[in-house]
Amino acid sequence: MCGIVGYIGKRQAAPIILDGLSKLEYRGYDSAGIAIFDGEKINVSKAVGRLRVLQEVTHGGETMPGLAGIGHTRWATHGEPSNVNAHPHTNTAGTIALVHNGIIENYIALKNRLISKGYEFKSDTDTEVVPQLIDYYYKGDPLEAISKALHRIEGAYSFGIIFKDHPGEIYAARKSSPLIAGISEEGAFIASDVPALLKYTRNIYYIGEEEIVRLAENEIHFYDSDCEELTKEPVEIKWDQDAAEKGGFDHFMIKEIYEEPRTVRDTLMPRLKNDEIFIEELGMDDEEIRAVGKIHIVACGSAYHAGVTGRYVFEGMARVPVDVDIASEFRYRNPILDETDLVIVISQSGETADTLAALRESRQRGCKVLAIVNVVGSSIAREADRVMYTWAGPEISVATTKAYSAQLIALYLLALKFASAKGTIDSTELHSYIEDLKRLPDQIELLLARQKSIQRFANRYVGAKDVFFIGRGIDYAISMEGSLKLKEISYIHSEAYAAGELKHGTISLIEEGTLVAAVATQKDLYSKTVSNIVEVKSRGAFVLAVTNEYNTDIEKVADYVIYLPETASWFTNSLAIIPLQLFGYYVSVGKGYDVDHPRNLAKSVTVE
Ligand code: G6P
Repeated sequence: MCGIVGYIGKRQAAPIILDGLSKLEYRGYDSAGIAIFDGEKINVSKAVGRLRVLQEVTHGGETMPGLAGIGHTRWATHGEPSNVNAHPHTNTAGTIALVHNGIIENYIALKNRLISKGYEFKSDTDTEVVPQLIDYYYKGDPLEAISKALHRIEGAYSFGIIFKDHPGEIYAARKSSPLIAGISEEGAFIASDVPALLKYTRNIYYIGEEEIVRLAENEIHFYDSDCEELTKEPVEIKWDQDAAEKGGFDHFMIKEIYEEPRTVRDTLMPRLKNDEIFIEELGMDDEEIRAVGKIHIVACGSAYHAGVTGRYVFEGMARVPVDVDIASEFRYRNPILDETDLVIVISQSGETADTLAALRESRQRGCKVLAIVNVVGSSIAREADRVMYTWAGPEISVATTKAYSAQLIALYLLALKFASAKGTIDSTELHSYIEDLKRLPDQIELLLARQKSIQRFANRYVGAKDVFFIGRGIDYAISMEGSLKLKEISYIHSEAYAAGELKHGTISLIEEGTLVAAVATQKDLYSKTVSNIVEVKSRGAFVLAVTNEYNTDIEKVADYVIYLPETASWFTNSLAIIPLQLFGYYVSVGKGYDVDHPRNLAKSVTVE
């Protein structure tokens, strides 16, 4: 979702901004643009499509000289991807240029007001009202004009702004959309995310809600929305630029799949001491855990699928009732929340707009919110009562893999913690589960070592029109994620179905040769799923089965079998997802698609 980079300093701004934007490409976008102050006026250049088109148009930034500027990759919300809708947008005189991530919810009312005052608009975007509104309030002091405009704007935003009259400064502001700032010997920077700045500094300032920033070559100042100056300390980023580069792999997605053993280990091991589970971040002792009446897990996309697995594990192991909601549904369904309930929000980016809104809604209603988040210092991490980090490192590919695996581990650890506090498992069981968890990284390695056969299988299915994923219980949760992985990067229609529900509709879609991926890892449900396999087989389906290594009898009914090493039934998702991620990846590669940047999708969905 939209990426912002701004720079002011000693060096030519355009190449730095273009390079920074390239580090944010993973966020997903459909057009790009930059605005550079050349000493006399602000020049704007825009292009539809990949960033390389803008790089070509501007000769890598050479045609846009100047020491200060802002740049943007746009993911269209209001108005199609086009040059006129791409950012930066300017006021009519072209003296104020602005880039925006987020949605201005009251833009129609603001636009009508401005039109009645003689302002003219060129684009279909919500964003264009902002430079015009700032222009309306501008009397020579950018800070004052920005502050007045912010008081009129409803919605979510992060802005980068330059003023022709203030060539030595760039401005920024944010509410509910990510924005960071940094300063180094080269100059001062703003960006949507850390990878854009890592080349220049590791000391990052996280801009807070409704704060405004003023940057000059060697200075950075923060203000609240009423222009009162604030003091802020930077946060040191510990991970390396390498972690955000492909490191010899063809795509970020496959690199990140190969990082899963390490990710699982990093999320797990720091929370195990002497074979006991310590989740200090939870901030709850056993008595407080026992007092939790209900758990609500709220998330979007793959994080939601991790939550669906979490429900089975929490309920099954700790006997605590769990609701799992898609955040965009939860926030508007007036959920019944009790103060004894615990809300767990899950988010890789920590910036997903609906998840953030669900968190705020829950806190307003008096619930404690625990966030399972990957990005340190993100909005969700900052606003939650408690944060449990998944130590997956930066995830660049739009289709999540390693962060999802880390989320599962966080949920298993929490469920085990609840189960032992509530006495629903004894210490022998706890230790045996911990041993199973500790084996997962090596078992994932083992599955990764078999990737060639999955690649061969995937190559056979690049032409598939429809694929169905079926499973029961936790296997259904795995199917949901397997299906999402396939459809989002290969554009093959795919659905996940609870295997027992097949007969109530989907089975009518099965015909000769339809691929059905059946996940059957749950001991007590195995024979039921095998019956469902027989049902689809007899309608002509080609069945790929994913099951435990001892279930060799499945070969009598399935056409192709992927065996998983043995683990506790609760944790099979961590293994079964590996071949399914690889399958999605290799189908996409086989079709020649841009695996890391699937069409229409964004890594971090910071608008509703
Ligand atoms: C987008 C991404 C998904 C991700 C979802 C939730 O749709 O493409 O991969 O699962 O957002 O994102 P979050 O950052 O909150 O986990």
